[in-house]
Amino acid sequence: MSLKEQSILVAGGGSTFTPGIVLMLLENLDKFPIRQLKFYDNDKERQQQIADATEVILKERAPHIKFVATTDPEEAFSDIDFVMAHIRVGKYAMREKDEKIPLKYGVIGQETCGPGGIAYGMRSIGGVLELIDYMEQYSPEAWMLNYSNPAAIVAEATRKLRPNSKIINICDMPVGIENRMKDVLGLESRKDMTVKYYGLNHFGWWTDIRDRDGKDLMPELKEWVSKNGYITPDELNGAAEEEVEPSWFYTFGKAKEVQWLDPDTLPNTYLKYYFYPQDEVEHSDPEHTRANEVMEHREKNTFTECNRIANIQTAEDAKLEADEHATYIVDLARAIAYNSKERMLLIVPNKGAIVNFDEDAMVEVPCIVGSQGAEPLTQGEIPRFQKGLMEQQVAVEKLVVEAWTEGSYQKLWQALFLSKTMPNARVAKQILDDLIEVNKEYWPELT
Ligand code: NAD
Ligand code: G6P
Ligand code: MN
Repeated sequence: MSLKEQSILVAGGGSTFTPGIVLMLLENLDKFPIRQLKFYDNDKERQQQIADATEVILKERAPHIKFVATTDPEEAFSDIDFVMAHIRVGKYAMREKDEKIPLKYGVIGQETCGPGGIAYGMRSIGGVLELIDYMEQYSPEAWMLNYSNPAAIVAEATRKLRPNSKIINICDMPVGIENRMKDVLGLESRKDMTVKYYGLNHFGWWTDIRDRDGKDLMPELKEWVSKNGYITPDELNGAAEEEVEPSWFYTFGKAKEVQWLDPDTLPNTYLKYYFYPQDEVEHSDPEHTRANEVMEHREKNTFTECNRIANIQTAEDAKLEADEHATYIVDLARAIAYNSKERMLLIVPNKGAIVNFDEDAMVEVPCIVGSQGAEPLTQGEIPRFQKGLMEQQVAVEKLVVEAWTEGSYQKLWQALFLSKTMPNARVAKQILDDLIEVNKEYWPELT
């Protein structure tokens, strides 16, 4: 039986991840055939550079796919089956501020965690809601697969403000970590593992990992992670095919210290910001943060290469690579399009999946995905340690959405203060006031 061909919109067409996702889609056309690909962005010039290269790539590799890049919502969102959304409201210039302002006060400066993540959330909510509204206006049957960050806050906003919308929020961090686990175990594929996991986005734990025969793989993994974090055997021996950037290498190593807090589970790497905030601040350069690294490398390289491809009108020797991690996006779209019942970790309304946790919280748990969307799998009761941490963090995320909706300064101050990254309420207020100053163009007015 031939599969129905899909029409895809990439929202945030100017993203540094777009070329990798396009190449990944092209590598998976047998599993997920595409008849039309569109790009939408609100920055025409930025998107055009990626689009010009994409046009060359498509002409050479998949000329049957109709391609459109536009900043016009009607043109973009009409006749679409899936919106793959990865926008960054305020772009890297604002990520840099999110990271540097808190660091001035000795507090974590991070894209999605702590005050930086809250500031980014206050920018993203409106942008993502706008995409949903366009999708519902012009392609009411379509699904949005959203990985725009901060996914936890964006997901809470969509749960609350667009409760009936066909949107699924997803993160690649569990995929990335599971790829490392399979290297530790010497497995072919992370799909050889079946996992149990619970938490919030960028805030969760694996509790059970089995191979295809049902054999428990946790003992071997726990021993490895408690000694090496998620650094792989090849990385330890200097035999790794691909070298991970130094800041990520540090993060994967740091996971061991996070795991020590609960040796029965395996943690998401992002927990390091909440468990060891002082270490992270000490490890940061307040003058040169991750935003600077990305602008100097991924962003610069992507645009240079796209411009080069457009100039020479061939991508035969292109230095762009398919984003292997991004195959989870095809898995998800496929599961919905063809009802494949794939098991995946997704960010969904709890509704009892974590039995002793807020029904209305957006949680990250394994789900079975089919044509009606995601069905969460119950993860049972969670221990007091994780429950306590998650309740504090989910309150932060909910307060941010309430602050955005109500225009409440007070609630945003409470959100910043409640983040486990924050030393006290006075510093939270100072950081908030600085963030308000630079975010005037993007945040609702707070009173
Ligand atoms: P980027 O700045 O390179 O690209 C984002 C694009 O979005 C830009 O071209 C920008 O012009 C566009 N944009 C901003 N606001 C918009 C709006 N309101 N409407 C339409 N377009 C808009 O950023 P990037 O580094 O490529 O990352 C893109 C997004 O993907 C970020 O939110 C990032 O955090 C997220 N991301 C998420 C995961 C995950 O695990 N969920 C993984 C990787 C990246
Ligand atoms: C992981 C996370 C994403 C985050 C990204 C940051 O992939 O899951 O949510 O956006 O890391 O990576 P960067 O290279 O931009 O610092
Ligand atoms: Mn993520």
